[in-house]
Amino acid sequence: MMDAPAITSPHPGPRTRQILKRLSAVEAGAGLTYGLGDDPVVLDHAEGAVITDPDGNRFLDMVAGFGSLSLGHSHPALVDAVRTQVGRGQQAMSIGSTTRTDLVEKMAGLVDGDYRVILAASGSEAVEVALKMTRRATGRQGIVAFSGGFHGRTMGALTLMGRQSQRTGLGTLLAGAIHLPFPDPYRSPFGTDPQQISDTTLALLDQQLGDPASGWMPVGAVIVESVQGNGGMIPVPAGFMAGLRDICTRHGVLLIADEVMSGFHRTGSLFAYQRDDNVDPDIIVVGKSLSAGLPLAGCLVSASISESNPVGTESSTYAGNLVSCASALAALEVYESFDISKQARDLGDYFQTQLRAVIGDHRNVGTIRGQGLMVAVELVSDRNGRIPLPVARAVSHLAIQRGLLLYPGGHFGNVLAFLPPLIVTRDQISACVSVVADLLNSVAYDALETTAN
Ligand SMILES: Cc1ncc(COP(=O)(O)O)c(C=O)c1O
Repeated sequence: MMDAPAITSPHPGPRTRQILKRLSAVEAGAGLTYGLGDDPVVLDHAEGAVITDPDGNRFLDMVAGFGSLSLGHSHPALVDAVRTQVGRGQQAMSIGSTTRTDLVEKMAGLVDGDYRVILAASGSEAVEVALKMTRRATGRQGIVAFSGGFHGRTMGALTLMGRQSQRTGLGTLLAGAIHLPFPDPYRSPFGTDPQQISDTTLALLDQQLGDPASGWMPVGAVIVESVQGNGGMIPVPAGFMAGLRDICTRHGVLLIADEVMSGFHRTGSLFAYQRDDNVDPDIIVVGKSLSAGLPLAGCLVSASISESNPVGTESSTYAGNLVSCASALAALEVYESFDISKQARDLGDYFQTQLRAVIGDHRNVGTIRGQGLMVAVELVSDRNGRIPLPVARAVSHLAIQRGLLLYPGGHFGNVLAFLPPLIVTRDQISACVSVVADLLNSVAYDALETTAN
């Protein structure tokens, strides 16, 4: 496997520029998200953690399709499975198929407990399904989410998003969404001790759910990313998920674990919520790494929720597309072929250790954190005051010029995040860390810092 990065002609090269020009002439601006920087990389072909552009530049991909490419680009097992399936039939809405049945059976057995599976074409759609099934099962419309959360861009999922900017101009969304402060040990109104932050956040929820005069709409569910992804790769404190499970059970409220980004071994266990023992969510939302790169998502819902939702109410044309299902079966087989959770844990530890050694003392590095291969560096202009330095996107732009793709995120746009494929090598992690260190010590970065301050 190539190690990359290798920039042989300054990015964006002539062929890349030509493609971007063609795209911007015809693609509606709203669809041009270009989340990594203003001069995005153009993929000509890709393998593992390396993208090669039409100019022959090679980029180290530490974003991996925003966490969907857990086995990297074009893993041979997935390529074979997809080729075979496309030759056997691609699509079978409202028709049974062996491939889809094999997958659904496998998914139902992923975790202990009596779960049923429902498939969707995207994580956002799966979140919508979870919201609708919650309403039908509980008859309640209130949903508790967390500040900084990201659950997708369809109207219901967007209601749960923390970030305002993506809601601007849309008017009234779903009624009943309530956001609590995410228990972020680096930035919480409840102190700096993770245990205290966790306890206080849970106590607040407990009190509101139990208070008939809380002012909250009756709550059907709490939805949570136990490692907040887009918000900046922030794991909840140990014990928080167990506490949340307990409160939800006591108040008859459903617990929805959004594992779209964190699921399938990325954080060092099959699902991130499993860091605490005995947490059985009522609904587990999955996507991204389920198929490791083809459009597929879904929910594992408890049998009782499934039973309280009428047959045939949730579906869409491509939900459970056969090629995506074949890709998922192949991905699950690879995940089971070795201890990939341990690999994610070990590589994540290595990543954080390297970052701490090389940039831990940098004046703007507030904290380095993560769980498995969801890793982040939070940038601040003042380490004591923890004042956010919102330069992540600009740093990402510079990183692309150096052949590195990273994920700019965080509540304040001040987090450099990394979501590499789980098959990334230590050499690639080291190469990434050394580019980040060079960047943070560069003249170009100094200029960014001055402008932002
Ligand atoms: C935690 C989480 N939930 C839901 C979604 C939405 O998934 P999709 O982009 O497939 O609609 C995302 C997307 O990044 C996510 O990170």
